[in-house]
Amino acid sequence: KMIYYITPTYPRPEQIPELTRLGHTLMHVPRIHWIIADDQSLCSTNVLNLLRRTGLPFTHISSPKPYVYKGTNFPRGVSNRRAALVWLRENVREGVMYFGDDDNTVDLQLFDEIRRTKKVSMFPVGLIGDYGISAPIIKDGKVVAFFDSWPGSRTFPVDMAGFAVNIEFLTPTATMPYSAGHEEDKFLMSLGIKLDDIEPLADNCSKVLVWHTKTVKFKKPNLKIDIERISKLPKYEDFANL
Ligand code: UGA
Ligand code: MN
Repeated sequence: KMIYYITPTYPRPEQIPELTRLGHTLMHVPRIHWIIADDQSLCSTNVLNLLRRTGLPFTHISSPKPYVYKGTNFPRGVSNRRAALVWLRENVREGVMYFGDDDNTVDLQLFDEIRRTKKVSMFPVGLIGDYGISAPIIKDGKVVAFFDSWPGSRTFPVDMAGFAVNIEFLTPTATMPYSAGHEEDKFLMSLGIKLDDIEPLADNCSKVLVWHTKTVKFKKPNLKIDIERISKLPKYEDFANL
């Protein structure tokens, strides 16, 4: 079975380093198709060049966030993930889909595990929220509840990186809302799944195989300081008199 790895991404100084690291992980994975969904009106040339150099089969699409969401606490990566879902529905009949953000860290073992997804599989995600982990709670091999520091009236309080879906179960109603904090839950609800449908992976959800890592924001260099220093360097006239 193919794995379709959906990565929303947007331009910023950390983008190419994040995608380089993720791309180098994906290069170790057999039968994987990388869908990079750009949060821009045009596909970025830098991203495209990086994708080509991985040698991986890929799809590069773009769909920018609507203008109203250009604030601070906005739902991230929704418009572009939606575009990826539309592409999947129109072009792919079978396989497993997974939402892998551009800044997460993934153990190669996760790919072997999610490839087996029959309907919807779930597993723990490390470095999430106040508890440091978000994970399904298992009893007798079944998911019975969730361990997550922000339940937030969600039926499935899980992170975007905590589940995979068999594409045959990607119903025409499957969509992601523009609702910060509720994207995962509402996407899973739109699939019409029940607790009983969930297949626990990662040794009955006892192992962490993916982490919600975050890169410290790059601080723009202070050009003023540089200009001051440059202005103190010897000038042409200083040399001409030697
Ligand atoms: C967490 C979850 O891991 C995300 O999957 C979820 O979309 C997000 O919260 C949310 O609920 O808003 P977090 O680490 O807080 O993610 O956010 P980012 O890593 O900044 O963004 C998540 C993904 O969306 C990344 O792949 C990022 O490249 C992408 N993104 C972010 C965009 O496409 N556009 C943006 O303007 C910002
Ligand atoms: Mn992130």
